Amino acid sequence: MRTFALPSIQYKTMDLHMLNIVLFGPPGSGKGTQAAKLVEKYGLKHLSTGDMLRAEKASGSELGNRVAAIMATGMLVSDEIVNEIVQSQLKAHAGSVPGFIFDGYPRTVEQAHTLDGYLQEIGTSATATLFLDVPQEELVKRLLQRAVELGRADDTVEVIEARVIEYNTKTLPVATIYRAQGKLHMVDGMGSVSEIFSRLVAVVDQSLIKG
Ligand code: AP5
Ligand code: MG
Repeated sequence: MRTFALPSIQYKTMDLHMLNIVLFGPPGSGKGTQAAKLVEKYGLKHLSTGDMLRAEKASGSELGNRVAAIMATGMLVSDEIVNEIVQSQLKAHAGSVPGFIFDGYPRTVEQAHTLDGYLQEIGTSATATLFLDVPQEELVKRLLQRAVELGRADDTVEVIEARVIEYNTKTLPVATIYRAQGKLHMVDGMGSVSEIFSRLVAVVDQSLIKG
């Protein structure tokens, strides 16, 4: 039996729904950084659509070449492609993990409705959406720094600008859906990585207690 080791109580997944976290926020807000830490703490399966698309690109497949061309512009890849990738991962791992952490997905209203449906099919739902709130100047600063350190192809001033526009027009409306469901939690995304992680953990643990 899988258990969550939380500060004071041991929670058995048998008594709980799955723990499914949507990590939400603009480019550079720290989704990937915090997802890695949440995965380690709660034993969740990390589903990052950005990472999965970059892996497809690296494979050199025909699909990989198509998505690489879109990602290079900062535009979103089509809902159809992204939904299909996520669905196959959910099917592959449902039942063998205590839950999922969605990083960079859903990113459109259509993806959000699709995810709701997929989770319903496997008898679960999103537990909480954690919105990493970071001002735009800080996002640009972090991504340009990452460009120096890691050289990610889409971390250039022009492409960052396009990604932020895509986020503001297509992704921000997704927050309204989760807010209406009472699942949206705004978290201050400024400060050290460990400070932000503590804030996220406080929200997740509270969601677990509420069930
Ligand atoms: P994706 O890979 O998801 O990129 P993104 O959303 O633009 O976000 P990032 O990965 O750049 O930022 P992050 O929030 O993960 O921050 P990170 O932790 O890395 O998507 C890339 C592309 O793929 C999209 O443009 C689109 O084309 C396509 N795509 C992906 N998903 C899609 C979908 N669902 N639908 C359609 N298309 C999709 O942190 C950033 C930097 O800041 C790092 O260097 C980190 O070390 C640093 N940092 C983190 N925390 C802190 C802190 N507290 N203080 C200082 N620095 C920090
Ligand atoms: Mg990321």
